[in-house]
Amino acid sequence: MSYPKPDRRSWAEPWKIKMVEPIRMTKLAEREKFIAEAGYNTFLLRSEDVYIDLLTDSGTNAMSDRQWAGMMLGDEAYAGSANFYNLWEAVTKYYGYKYLVPTHQGRAAEHILSQIMIHPGDIIPGNMYFTTTRLHQELAGGAFVDVIIDEAHDPANPHPFKGNVDLAKLQRVIHEAGPGKIPYVCIAGTVNMAGGQPQSMANMRAVRELCRQHKIHVVLDATRAVENAYFIQQREPGYANKKLAEILKEYCSLTDTCTMSAKKDALVNIGGWLATNDQGLYEEARNLVVVYEGLHTYGGLAGRDMEAMARGIAESVEDDHMRARIGQVQYLGEHLIDWGIPIVKPIGGHAVFLDAKAFYPQIPQAQFPAEALTCNLYIDSGVRTMERGVVSAGRDAKTGEEHFPKLELVRITIPRRVYTQAHMDVVAESVLEVYEHREQARGLKMVYEPKYLRFFQARFEPA
Ligand code: F0G
Repeated sequence: MSYPKPDRRSWAEPWKIKMVEPIRMTKLAEREKFIAEAGYNTFLLRSEDVYIDLLTDSGTNAMSDRQWAGMMLGDEAYAGSANFYNLWEAVTKYYGYKYLVPTHQGRAAEHILSQIMIHPGDIIPGNMYFTTTRLHQELAGGAFVDVIIDEAHDPANPHPFKGNVDLAKLQRVIHEAGPGKIPYVCIAGTVNMAGGQPQSMANMRAVRELCRQHKIHVVLDATRAVENAYFIQQREPGYANKKLAEILKEYCSLTDTCTMSAKKDALVNIGGWLATNDQGLYEEARNLVVVYEGLHTYGGLAGRDMEAMARGIAESVEDDHMRARIGQVQYLGEHLIDWGIPIVKPIGGHAVFLDAKAFYPQIPQAQFPAEALTCNLYIDSGVRTMERGVVSAGRDAKTGEEHFPKLELVRITIPRRVYTQAHMDVVAESVLEVYEHREQARGLKMVYEPKYLRFFQARFEPA
């Protein structure tokens, strides 16, 4: 093997490994059996049968020694835990919102927000749907409307901010529905379903201004907002010399409220929150959290979990941390681009997304090409990935018709601080192997479909 001279300095991780978790290697014949038993759905595999687990970056992060030390300082009081106040302080300091209600994870915050703000018949515009977010909007009687720019639906389009809102689309929705029917606009940065694509600060500012004119509340899905801040720093004029922490705060300041799955950016295994500057909303949320989660000073979490979150937030906005985190995702993505494998471009923040329509053009979308590709990757190497296509998109809440999204993707999601560059090499080589055998691939048929969020529990058979 030859090593070419590098033309740049690398992004090595700003940490070293103190504890390791052995993982089991499996054989090809075993994996064929495991995936069949799992109904050809990677969500139904047992984790011990997985070699490199790139299903999600949610709750799969490695905590630091400082976070683990914080776990020993859990104040497990039912009411008024010291860790709750530490968390409050961290959210106020780094995200800037005035009020905080902790929740056990992101969808719990979405549930509470939707129940409070949405009335039957309401419209919630957003920059592409997210599965749980849209479901909670629908369960509250609302309907989601996509106002993301068209470029986001094209996997090959290199637009630097594919998470941007199309302001003309948003304006049209406001005009047609009337501002009174829009309880809030829901903005995510980065946009998970678009391929981990960021929104620019300028675009968020324009959304803010439009909403201000119509007195519409702006909600941020802050799940990966620090990753979004990194792309603003790297790509948007005027931000190259600003710290991530500063950019994050400016970004959040353009919104009124945020829901958060702390299982991503905030480097913990469980946790979330709803934060807001609106005192009335805070008071309602603080009351409702007691019904669904637990007292407003723990929201379904242990004190130690809140401490780990407070410390994780501070670590997540360190520039060196994020450079290495996204650097690792880019490293994997660049390998695949070099080898001519179709992926969503630009490479996203939390994952590399394979374009399953281009990968398997012979498989019709009704036969779930992305789901089939997740299975073939698992069978090849024991690498677990996730379908983000027609299975995830589900059915229209009113008509029951299947959504056929333009993007039919496989998400290779990188947990934070968990795997090494050598793991990324193994993953890239497995994708190449599966790509080289792409012509033999066949689709799947769905044999069991649950009512809600079907991708989690659906079962398939070879078509
Ligand atoms: N919003 C976004 C953008 C998410 O990616 C997620 C979760 C949620 C909200 C819900 O948060 O899981 O804590 O209840 N995404 C995970 C994923 C499941 O794999 O992308 P949660």
